[in-house]
Amino acid sequence: MKNFTIKVNGTNKNIESTSDKPLLWVLREDLHLTGTKYGCGFGVCGACVIHLNGSPERSCQITIEECHEKEITTIEGLSNNSPHYVQQAWIEENVPQCGYCQCGQIMSATALLDKSPNPTDEEIDEVMGDNYCRCGTYPRIKKAIHRAIQFKKQ
Ligand code: FES
Ligand code: FES
Repeated sequence: MKNFTIKVNGTNKNIESTSDKPLLWVLREDLHLTGTKYGCGFGVCGACVIHLNGSPERSCQITIEECHEKEITTIEGLSNNSPHYVQQAWIEENVPQCGYCQCGQIMSATALLDKSPNPTDEEIDEVMGDNYCRCGTYPRIKKAIHRAIQFKKQ
C-alpha cells in the first residue's frame, strides 16, 4: 500500500491504496462518490467519465498512481449550489431514461463545451459517440447540448 494525494472537487484527499487501483474504485469505494458509474470496466462505454486536470478521462482506465497530485472533478463537483448549465439543459430536455449512463454523458458534454463552446453537429457526434446509452437517449442528448450552448450564450 502507498499514500497518494488527489484533489477531488476542490478538496485534497489522502488515499492509501495499491498503485494500480483504478480511479473509478477510489472514487466509489474510498470516497463514496457514486455518481461516477461502472459500466464496462474496459474504457469502452463512457459511464465512468470524470475530468482529470480539466480533460475528460475514463476513470476505469487510470490508476490512482497516475492521478497523484492531480485535480479531479466528478459529477458531484460540477456545480456547488445550483445545477451546472449543462445539467439544467439535461433537466429541461428530460434526457435520462434509466439514468445509468447520464453522469458520464454530462461529464463528456461539459468537457466538449469547455473546449469548444459552439460545436458543430459533427463535433458533437464525434465526442458523444463514444458514450453509450442502452436506453437510446441519443436524440435528447443532442438536443440538450444545443440547449446548453444557448444557455452559455445568455
Ligand atoms: S466503465 Fe469505464 S468506460 Fe465503461
Ligand atoms: S439512460 Fe439508460 S443507459 Fe442511458
